[in-house]
Amino acid sequence: TLTACLFDLDGVLVDTAKYHYIAWKRLAGELGFEFTEQDNERLKGVSRMASLDILLEVGGVSLDEDAKLALAEKKNAWYVEYISNMDESEILPGALEFIQALKERGIKVALGSASKNAMLILNNTGLTPYFDAIIDGTKTSQAKPDPEVFMLGARELGARPDDCVVFEDAEAGIEAAIRAGMRSVGIGSPETLGRANLVLPSLEELTVDRLLEL
Ligand code: BG6
Ligand code: MG
Repeated sequence: TLTACLFDLDGVLVDTAKYHYIAWKRLAGELGFEFTEQDNERLKGVSRMASLDILLEVGGVSLDEDAKLALAEKKNAWYVEYISNMDESEILPGALEFIQALKERGIKVALGSASKNAMLILNNTGLTPYFDAIIDGTKTSQAKPDPEVFMLGARELGARPDDCVVFEDAEAGIEAAIRAGMRSVGIGSPETLGRANLVLPSLEELTVDRLLEL
């Protein structure tokens, strides 16, 4: 059976990857190196500090913890400035319609995101009221692929892991779902998300009936 759906936020419900990218690129620029869109792919689903480590590795820069914390804060301040202007037009195609269809069928909906900025994004896009539970980076201690974020979501909904489906655009997120004992739908390309039970380009292609067949 299927009683609950757990959604990643960035890249599944909203296209925030571009704002993360602009902010990281700006930081790289200040540090004196290029950061390409291809480099940025490696940051998807990865926590803020782990993202910074990858960026510094790309630039061949090594810094102590204090300097790294200061840079992460700087990047986040820019990122928050960019996402402050988001509105419902930045919800990805099909996402809202799909969540509404789930709720009409009595299926519970939770957020499972690594972001500490999730509430700001949900509020700006008007998505907050649709969630029965919200687990974000302020509530977790382990980053994906650790299953913590999805286990907490299922617990808050009172759902068993094998009655849950996770929606993810990151490989680490699909891995987290598998470790949690949940089914998963990958949003993106089969090349990176091949371990999901189903991979689709966007939520526009999915109906609740098709999901129930998983
Ligand atoms: C994930 C994004 O959802 O959240 C990552 O895919 C991001 O790119 C991570 O680094 C942490 O987000 P934040 O908003 O707490 O810096
Ligand atoms: Mg994501």
